[in-house]
Amino acid sequence: MTAPATAGAGPALEARDFSIRLHTRAQSITIVDEVSWSVAPGETLAIVGESGSGKTVSTLGIFGLLPANVACDTGGQVLLHGRDVLGLPDTERAKILGSDVGVIFQDPLTAFNPMRRVGPQIARSVQAHLGLSTADARERAVELLGQVGIADPRARYAAYPHEMSGGMRQRALVALAIAGEPTVLIADEPTTALDVTTQAQLLELLRTIQAERGLALVLITHDMGVVASIADKIAVMYAGRVVEYGDAVSVLGDPDHPYTSGLLASIADARAGAKEPFRVLPGLPPDLARVGEGCRFADRCELAEASCADLVPVLVPLRTRTGGRQASACWKHPRHEPLTEPDEQKAVRA
Ligand SMILES: Nc1ncnc2c1ncn2[C@@H]1O[C@H](COP(=O)(O)OP(=O)(O)O)[C@@H](O)[C@H]1O
Ligand code: SF4
Ligand SMILES: [Mg+2]
Repeated sequence: MTAPATAGAGPALEARDFSIRLHTRAQSITIVDEVSWSVAPGETLAIVGESGSGKTVSTLGIFGLLPANVACDTGGQVLLHGRDVLGLPDTERAKILGSDVGVIFQDPLTAFNPMRRVGPQIARSVQAHLGLSTADARERAVELLGQVGIADPRARYAAYPHEMSGGMRQRALVALAIAGEPTVLIADEPTTALDVTTQAQLLELLRTIQAERGLALVLITHDMGVVASIADKIAVMYAGRVVEYGDAVSVLGDPDHPYTSGLLASIADARAGAKEPFRVLPGLPPDLARVGEGCRFADRCELAEASCADLVPVLVPLRTRTGGRQASACWKHPRHEPLTEPDEQKAVRA
């Protein structure tokens, strides 16, 4: 794990048993189930898992960006620099977005108004969050466009979103996300829509921006290749729960949970040039409306035993070869001896 300059300051953002319950007319479904993780200044936490595993709702849901037109309630705690976010009124929570917390969405057009020029949209955010004059905000926006690697930023200031390439729009979105000088950046599948070369360039940009500003970066992705190239810590999500959590070296080098091992095997196959179009794992995640007690991965797990269906496994800290932190929610822990010391059992949260 890289040692951030301000690592001693404690987590920038921390989820503690964070849950989201969604209420439809017919039923209530727990779409995020007691998720815990933390990210410190200068650190990158990757939240990884297949589509529908709850990556987006478990992060953006913290700030009130919840599924539209559905009643939701939240449980647990989320601390931003030690301050409880969930207890704030909705308007206060919404204000955090764009100021203390910047967001990069998968599709820049959800953040940019397609009918307006890009530069003034960034300038408006600068003005709203930093209180600069119109002229100064404009200069700052041009500066930001330059900092994210957009050539001729003064001319590009006046471009409409559709006049930019996908890669350039995503860079402009990084500029918009950092316009309010946030301390935390959440990037939700920021490279998914881009070609491989542009993906690599955008990740490099995120790394640079993060290092320059000491940002805590939460990177949401379903791509283990992206995770391997950038993460300090990893939270692997499956069906609304974190099934493995720890420093990237331990989780990637010696995964414990069968789901993590399956995800890693799938990128190994892809790199080895398997001719068959590869699937992440055979089978599909469970319907959250129907999950009961027991391990949610059981239907797809080669190691499943009858007892796995009895009780939901919780994260248990593991011994790691490197002395790093790692915890996994599997009754069998195929690669590790679970710790037994009561004090270490408490130390799941990094
Ligand atoms: N509008 C909605 N109505 C019902 N369920 C929803 C809605 N939005 C999200 N969900 C539930 O939340 C789960 C997690 O969604 P999401 O966070 O978008 O997953 P991910 O980002 O990992 O792809 C989905 O599988 C779905 O069960
Ligand atoms: S608890 Fe059982 S079903 Fe779940 S991942 Fe472990 S071995 Fe597989
Ligand atoms: Mg998502």
